[in-house]
Amino acid sequence: MSRIKIIAGNWKMYKTIAEAAAFAYEFVAAFDGSEHEVVICAPFTQLAPLKRAFSGSAVKIGAQNMHFENEGAYTGEISPPMLVELGVDYCVIGHSERRQYFAETDDTVNRKLKAAFAHGIMPIMCVGEVLEQRDAGKAFDVVERQVVDGLEDIKQKDAERLIIAYEPVWAIGTGRTATPEQAEEMCAFIRRIVSELYGKDTAEKLRVQYGGSVKPSNATELLSKENIDGALVGGASLSPTDFKAIVEF
Ligand code: 13P
Repeated sequence: MSRIKIIAGNWKMYKTIAEAAAFAYEFVAAFDGSEHEVVICAPFTQLAPLKRAFSGSAVKIGAQNMHFENEGAYTGEISPPMLVELGVDYCVIGHSERRQYFAETDDTVNRKLKAAFAHGIMPIMCVGEVLEQRDAGKAFDVVERQVVDGLEDIKQKDAERLIIAYEPVWAIGTGRTATPEQAEEMCAFIRRIVSELYGKDTAEKLRVQYGGSVKPSNATELLSKENIDGALVGGASLSPTDFKAIVEF
């Protein structure tokens, strides 16, 4: 079955509104559509301006995190209805930087996934092992645990629309990309886990992205793999030229 590839930029904590506007202007001027889905996951302050800047283009917008409650005394947090109001299409959930610096766990990831689906926001659930885990031969166990616990009690109809991003932590921002074979092996493994949980049809619909030092020079090799259905791009998504080259891999 052919799955539509999804190339998403994760800007992390980069760019002011003015810089985001400049990116959008340059990117939209050069981008004349794609057979792939294209998403920019930006800091909260830039979502509304980007939504306007990308209207009339096929570029979608995503947030990088959200709370699982609709409202409440959670100082500094942003809720799913607040994102819906901005027209946000996607939300990155459980990025390794959030797990590492902001105490996210498989349990909070699971709650956030449920909240995202309940509000019609498409979650991009991030999983991936750290270097010591890979070196100790534990990468597959770690990723399996993250997928199984993250998806606990997620309904089949939601699992079908899910996007999982495999981001080996040792490849993020390091310039050390996983080899296409390593990335393909883990993405195929993730599809097998989902097949065991939800059956083959759901697993065939699932889109699995690779993330970790994706750049124009390695995008084609990675994205040509059978089980890699897209990329979650950090650093290289900050440049309209590089991001366009990746989208056009
Ligand atoms: P880099 O592409 O900068 O390695 O970042 C990957 C990432 O964390 C995307 O979410």
